[in-house]
Amino acid sequence: MTPRSDTLLELTGIGKHFGGLAALSDVSLHIRHGEIYGLIGPNGAGKTTLFNIITGLYQLDEGAITFDGTAYSHCKPHLLAHAGIARTFQNIRLFANMTALENVMVGRHLRTRTGIWGALLRNAAARAEERAIARRARELLHYVGIERPHQTLAKHLPYGEQRRLEIARALATEPKLLALDEPVAGMNATETESLKALLQTIRASGITVLLIEHDVKLILGLCDRVAVLDYGKKIAEGLPEEVRQNPAVIAAYLGGAAE
Ligand SMILES: Nc1ncnc2c1ncn2[C@@H]1O[C@H](COP(=O)(O)OP(=O)(O)OP(=O)(O)O)[C@@H](O)[C@H]1O
Ligand SMILES: [Mg+2]
Repeated sequence: MTPRSDTLLELTGIGKHFGGLAALSDVSLHIRHGEIYGLIGPNGAGKTTLFNIITGLYQLDEGAITFDGTAYSHCKPHLLAHAGIARTFQNIRLFANMTALENVMVGRHLRTRTGIWGALLRNAAARAEERAIARRARELLHYVGIERPHQTLAKHLPYGEQRRLEIARALATEPKLLALDEPVAGMNATETESLKALLQTIRASGITVLLIEHDVKLILGLCDRVAVLDYGKKIAEGLPEEVRQNPAVIAAYLGGAAE
């Protein structure tokens, strides 16, 4: 048996253009199993574009990706979800008119066995599975700290809980990699602290976390390693403290959109 590589996700030479704009140029990085990896950079640096490439929403122009030992250059988002990549969005994307519970159940359906025919025929196996999905979804809602009635419509949850609900839905797909695009944006200090604790718990459960964040304090306190993008290029990578003191990083933040 070959030993498992310690790399979960490897990006090599990623390039992405929008017309004349090089949103990403030659970005290479690798994320190890079990770490919390931070991706930072000024506004427009290409962070979300990189997420969109990793999760199959955008097609890359150059480069290669290997996830959990399998190479892909472009793959449909639902297949990547099956492979074990889950994400949340910079602008929350929930099913606003579905309940909190239903939102999580949607994520959970990715792993169902009876499939669409069973669900339509509503046979005994499908009904049992549906109950199991609902039970797991309730567990996940508790896990992320949503104690409000689970029948509350997603759009009626406070903002911070909507962000947690997105995380619960992502976790319902049983990911190996959880990619979060600015999960604490718009949160107050208390909400941010408790989200930090949640992310530590998620990592302790064996899930690798990729985190885009502008909150430098959060990145320093949470991430094992950090990469910095600026104008589509990786300008630094390393331990949070090293990156913070890197002159190129300081210049990028002072010269651009300092947060
Ligand atoms: N679909 C698209 N079409 C055209 N240009 C795009 C598209 N998506 C992103 N861009 C451009 O690519 C660049 C990188 O954008 P991206 O959203 O990846 O930045 P970001 O680092 O996530 O910034 P922010 O911190 O503001 O979220 C920007 O100049 C943006 O305008
Ligand atoms: Mg972004």
